[in-house]
Amino acid sequence: MAGKATYRAHANIAFLKYWGTRDASLNLPYTHSLSMTLSHAHTTTTVAWQEAPGQRDTIVINGQACTGSARARICAHLDRIRTGSARSLTAHVCSRNSFPTSAGIASSASGFCALTLAAHAALQGTVHERDIPALARLARLASGSACRSFHGGFVEWHAGRDHETSRPIQLHDASHWNLHDLVVVVSEEEKAVSSQNGHRLADSSPLLPTRVDYVNHNLADARQALRSHDLQLLGTIAETDAMLMHAVMLTSRPPLLYLNPASIRLMGMIQAWRRQEALPVYFTVDAGPNLHLLCEAATAAQVQDRLSRLEFVQQVIVNRPGPGPVRMAEHLIQQDFQDLDWTFPSAHREPDA
Ligand code: PMV
Repeated sequence: MAGKATYRAHANIAFLKYWGTRDASLNLPYTHSLSMTLSHAHTTTTVAWQEAPGQRDTIVINGQACTGSARARICAHLDRIRTGSARSLTAHVCSRNSFPTSAGIASSASGFCALTLAAHAALQGTVHERDIPALARLARLASGSACRSFHGGFVEWHAGRDHETSRPIQLHDASHWNLHDLVVVVSEEEKAVSSQNGHRLADSSPLLPTRVDYVNHNLADARQALRSHDLQLLGTIAETDAMLMHAVMLTSRPPLLYLNPASIRLMGMIQAWRRQEALPVYFTVDAGPNLHLLCEAATAAQVQDRLSRLEFVQQVIVNRPGPGPVRMAEHLIQQDFQDLDWTFPSAHREPDA
């Protein structure tokens, strides 16, 4: 019996980031990374398997048919999951993000986490707790940061030595610290180079070893800052690491320039708010121009108010620590593909189990 399942997974923002791979085929990073799962940035994905030899997978994301390299990446991941099934399975995938795709929130993390869980649940009927570590490793093969979205709250991705040991671990659940992450959208333009391709260029930067050293030397302090709710320490480490990651990007061959004038302007303002007014807010930024501002709950309204007065800010998405993935009862695909004889008349169907 082919099945259908829906999962929701939340995106995450890293304080110590993953940039560059020691082994690109396994997505083994150079360093450990630390992240917070985001409450208000999630992807919901339904996967319906159908026994339909020769049929192409159908993939719809945010209402649009997925094509080109994005489609190829998703199909390759579906292959990892259907491998081992004796049947000839076609996937129907429908996925929706709660946030604008180019908002500077890594949709690949929430997307590949939800896809992995929904595809596995649809195939096996359920996801057992004991399956989670293997599924997180599988998701890591598609997008490294996706493995961190398998847990809520605060998560460490252990770089590991090999496929088995490169895995995420929850450090604290979402109730540990009401840290806020304000995503400041200054541009919704699609980035020219995906992070998947960007990782491959990291080795060409002369600054890569410096950044790897920085992460290794600051990991224990970052863990301690998370444990003790020390925003000043965590924010300082996160801000420096984001700058170092962009220094690596800028000095890769060819160079990668993800920041734009609005990002730089906002970085300067945040540092000035801290220096001149002792406003405790720090920034980090992924492979794009949109900054993530880290602050305590008590400061969030004041920061939001300041952002609302900046003409170059298009949107602010306010996040708290979010939950791990959840299975949803409602599906984004309504059809039951076992009954679709009229659509695929030649498909061989096994009797229902
Ligand atoms: O998982 P990927 O391939 O989308 O890479 C994520 C890279 C960054 O977002 C820039 C950093 C991180 O650790 O999330």
